[in-house]
Amino acid sequence: MTREELFKKIISHAKEYGFIFPSSEIYDGLAAVYDYGQLGSLLKNNIRDYWWQSMVQLHENIVGIDSAIFMHPTIWKASGHVDAFNDILIDNKDSKKRYRADMLIEEHLAKIEDKINKEVEKATKRFGEKFDRKMFISTNPRVVEYKNKYDTVKTRFANALNNNDLKDLKNIIEEEKIVCPVSGTRNWTDVRQFNLMFCVQMGSVTDDTETIFLRPETAQGIFVNFLNVYKTGRMKIPFGIAQTGKAFRNEIVARQFIFRMREFEQMEMQYFVKPGEEMKWFEYWKTTRKKWHLSLGIPEQKYRFHDHEKLSHYANAATDIEFEFPFGFKELEGIHSRTDFDLKQHQKYSGKKLQFFDAETNESYVPYVIETSIGLDRMFLAIISYAYNEEKLDDGTERIVFHIPHILAPIKIAVLPLVKRDGMPEKAREIMGNLIYDFMCQYDEKDTIGRRYRRQDAIGTPYCITIDQQTFEDNTVTIRERDTMKQERISISKISEIVKDKLNFKNNLGM
Ligand code: GAP
Repeated sequence: MTREELFKKIISHAKEYGFIFPSSEIYDGLAAVYDYGQLGSLLKNNIRDYWWQSMVQLHENIVGIDSAIFMHPTIWKASGHVDAFNDILIDNKDSKKRYRADMLIEEHLAKIEDKINKEVEKATKRFGEKFDRKMFISTNPRVVEYKNKYDTVKTRFANALNNNDLKDLKNIIEEEKIVCPVSGTRNWTDVRQFNLMFCVQMGSVTDDTETIFLRPETAQGIFVNFLNVYKTGRMKIPFGIAQTGKAFRNEIVARQFIFRMREFEQMEMQYFVKPGEEMKWFEYWKTTRKKWHLSLGIPEQKYRFHDHEKLSHYANAATDIEFEFPFGFKELEGIHSRTDFDLKQHQKYSGKKLQFFDAETNESYVPYVIETSIGLDRMFLAIISYAYNEEKLDDGTERIVFHIPHILAPIKIAVLPLVKRDGMPEKAREIMGNLIYDFMCQYDEKDTIGRRYRRQDAIGTPYCITIDQQTFEDNTVTIRERDTMKQERISISKISEIVKDKLNFKNNLGM
């Protein structure tokens, strides 16, 4: 199966089982906006809770807030978003399609990288065990040529981005003969800037209205509450403020399902530190966030760090945690050293002092900030992309299984009477009546037990409890685990304890 085929299957699986629907579907949908269905919203809540617990519950110096989406418009002037939160776009005059110029060049670079990888792959097969990869890359004429080209374009691209040199970005596109994927032509417009913030009118009378922005990141809601939280929470540096919530960006190229949306949710944490200590905390948060990802049991090779070539207007260091999505490695989370830029800007624009008083040194200062910022929807996509599997079983049959990490699974236990008679449904409901206080459960009595197991595999339910004749004799049930498909006979009184132990937050996150 190709990567594209796999991605299409994941999208249709997510829809078929009630995880994600296109927004406003009966009206033909709304571009780059999605709704989470009955199982999707459960999974999304579980991801959010897992993040919140790891940040707020496990760190006594991190507190959580929930700031409003509507904020004073000057905030976005101060933060630099009004002037600098732009995408660089280019249109193809023949297809009339609009692209992000930086993405066209990045995709071109990825193609050159693919060519190098293919040559290496071919040579590995040809030379077998004797193959010296390093030597091959540095001496094979074709690979050397590709590599030189890659390095030259990459350096020029990074410089053009850093210098905001829109002309050179266009030159790169023309000189590298990058074509429009739709028309196949090179008939490009100039490269232009486009601000990504949505505006709305606030107020009831037309003359009274004020134009405000829908927040493009949740972080500013944290910065403008720095003083409130520091004072009322009696916080001491270093300390963090976390929040989750909706953000909005008028993305030009909103593609790849829920990877790039116009309305999405972020989980952000700003960690306020003493100036000069930011690099130590930057490293700390890189390590801590990577551990959080790995705690979910997803293999390490699915993740990689990618340092930014172009730093945002506020950062002095930045890295992405990238994930291998079905369409390749892409940004999942950003870790940014934001300096004192935001607090200083808000100090300047609001006229209020946003400083921390250090009682030990008798000094006041504007703290530096390390930010961790992850898209909840993107994390959702990472989870389901990893989880989707089509497996051939020993008996020759196939199953589709969603290997969602147990702790995040939308339904934790399916309660299944073996047959729809002999008092089994009643017994099953009695057992479920006790379990629902601790776990999200689903009752199912329709179809054969085998089909019901498959349905639960497909939505990622880690445990199925089956009630059969023996249940009435010795108060036991079978418990089936999703990944191994192993079944065990256990006492009814032990179900809760056994499942709780497997879904234990500490077992996952005990860092
Ligand atoms: N406060 C910093 C900030 O917003 P960012 O790199 O622009 O940084 C952080 O965004 C994270 O938000 C990204 O790593 C990504 O997971 C998520 N994100 C950004 N734009 C998104 C979009 N259009 N759709 C879905 N998720 C998005």
